[in-house]
Amino acid sequence: MNLKGRDFLWLGDYSKEELEFILKVTAQLKERYYAGERIIPVLKGKTLALIFQKPSTRTRVSFEVAMKQLGGFTITLNWNELQLGRGETIADTARVMSRYVDGIMARVYSHDDLVELAKYSTVPVINGLSDSFHPVQALSDMFTILEKKGKLKGVKLVFLGDGGNNVAQSLLIASAKLGVNITISSPPKYRPSKEVLEVAEEAVKHSGAQIDFIEDPYEAVEGADVIYTDVWVSMGQEKEKETRIKELSKYQVNIELMKHARKDAIFMHCLPAHRGQEVTDDVIDGPWSVVWDQAENRMHTQKALLALLL
Ligand code: CP
Ligand code: NVA
Repeated sequence: MNLKGRDFLWLGDYSKEELEFILKVTAQLKERYYAGERIIPVLKGKTLALIFQKPSTRTRVSFEVAMKQLGGFTITLNWNELQLGRGETIADTARVMSRYVDGIMARVYSHDDLVELAKYSTVPVINGLSDSFHPVQALSDMFTILEKKGKLKGVKLVFLGDGGNNVAQSLLIASAKLGVNITISSPPKYRPSKEVLEVAEEAVKHSGAQIDFIEDPYEAVEGADVIYTDVWVSMGQEKEKETRIKELSKYQVNIELMKHARKDAIFMHCLPAHRGQEVTDDVIDGPWSVVWDQAENRMHTQKALLALLL
């Protein structure tokens, strides 16, 4: 399967088979990594630029390390320190950057800025999180679920809290494409957009996955294999902080809620976590939690993605 030259802006652009292929390559690369093969120089001499409009720990470090382990180089840039911050257009920036680097990963507020960047770049553009999507996170999370549960098809994933955010929207598409049964448990106003839901509904026709919206968190987690949450206040939503905390507080993942899931359920969080808000310490530090493996897998998945796209 040839994915060379493709952008990775959202999961709607990728078929079930293509996503499965990336997960297969991820498994191979992870196995080789643990067998001691740190450097697999398939991208020798190539450069990835990382551009950030928002802060990052995992995305920044995992992409930098991934690229270096593939024999490549990285340049990490802050959006506002580029001429972009003084008004140079995204199109001109894309045209120029494409002459220097072999791929661009960008973390932005507006997803449209990423689409614009990709439109004028002649090199692949990877979404490292936008207000609408976090596709590398969701792809990597599918790898973690596969690793922990041994399958994707038929697994029940319950996402609690802000069901309309970038991570939830990406998990919805990833699940729908790959056959994971996903339940979103949130107040009605915190749900995925109509457009995203339409894409997911189209995908389940092919995968056979089930999509549910259940407002009551206890009812939602009944029989869950995976309990997933994310912050209630995403980057850029700081002004809505008080309202969001008030409206989402009943979706906190605590021990009481975990007891209603399957006995062997795992707890996932894309991180960073706001401990004491969407998740309590005893859950994120407890026996259910796979969050550190989940964070590590970002690096392995992104190695596969970079190796295939660049
Ligand atoms: N999960 C994730 O993308 O983390 P960072 O914001 O630290 O990159
Ligand atoms: N929804 C969160 C994810 C952080 C990785 C945010 O956008 O802030």
